[in-house]
Amino acid sequence: MALATAPTTDIFDEIQELKRTRNAVILAHYYQEPDIQDVADFIGDSLALARQAKSTDADVIVFCGVHFMAETAKILNPERTVVLPDLRAGCSLADSCPAPAFARFLKRYPDHVVVSYVNTSAAVKALSDVICTSSNAEKIIRSIPEDRGIVFAPDQHLGRYLIRKTGRDMVLWPGSCMVHTLFSERKIRQLKVRYPDAEVLAHPECEERVLALADHVGSTKSLLSRAAASRARRFIVATEPGIIHQMEKLAPDKEFIRAPVEGGACDVCSECPHMRLNTLEKVRDCMERLEPEITMDEKLRLRALRPIERMLELS
Ligand code: 13P
Ligand code: SF4
Repeated sequence: MALATAPTTDIFDEIQELKRTRNAVILAHYYQEPDIQDVADFIGDSLALARQAKSTDADVIVFCGVHFMAETAKILNPERTVVLPDLRAGCSLADSCPAPAFARFLKRYPDHVVVSYVNTSAAVKALSDVICTSSNAEKIIRSIPEDRGIVFAPDQHLGRYLIRKTGRDMVLWPGSCMVHTLFSERKIRQLKVRYPDAEVLAHPECEERVLALADHVGSTKSLLSRAAASRARRFIVATEPGIIHQMEKLAPDKEFIRAPVEGGACDVCSECPHMRLNTLEKVRDCMERLEPEITMDEKLRLRALRPIERMLELS
């Protein structure tokens, strides 16, 4: 007896089939679990994912990342259906800057240019003049006239890094990422003694004392490029370890060591608990059900769109 539909027991096959029937594109951040990265059509850092979301002609964007990233995709592409495998996948950094408190804070700096990191809610973006990501932040800050004051939110560590790089004085919102502030300067120093040939790669959301040990600081994409291009054979990676999957694919003959965290003994201590809420099963389910879907008030979307478009023009 012929079956109406072919049995699809392999979840990878199911997802491929759903991509076709839904005319869906899967965008994934480097911090997603390796299986999700392997089913994605496009893997990137926050800026590349925003650009990809803007240019896609798929009907459905399956955003494998955290809420602010999927929300940015929706702001840029309101006519598409944007789904996030787990709606609870938030971001401690975005949460550290609630819009009402930020609006009150900004009243103290009425003449400042407000630069917000992409790791913010749409409501915070709507209060900002221009958005940046870790890959274009320096360029965005340098584009602001010297005589203008700058408020930078919400990541204080990225903010301090930018102050050191550009020499610009900025007012910083005191937010931080729960993952990048875990890395232990002391244990990284010990690893460097054990592996003197190893390069330290660090994301600028890390604390200053960790960045001071780094041979290269940059966005996830920049860390990946450095890992491939460097002559070093061994690396200590101070960012979410999901990216090591791509590093190992790009440079299979090199060794990548997760930067240790203070007090942490486990292998998953530096994994982002928000990013890791997404699973392959949830990717399949959200494609089947077309939910959880990202929806947004149109007036808010338009206010949040303006500073994102300014960023895309400048970068
Ligand atoms: P990137 O823009 O470098 O990919 O970083 C995103 C992020 O959430 C870092 O924690
Ligand atoms: Fe947010 Fe930090 Fe997770 Fe990046 S790693 S998504 S900044 S909590």
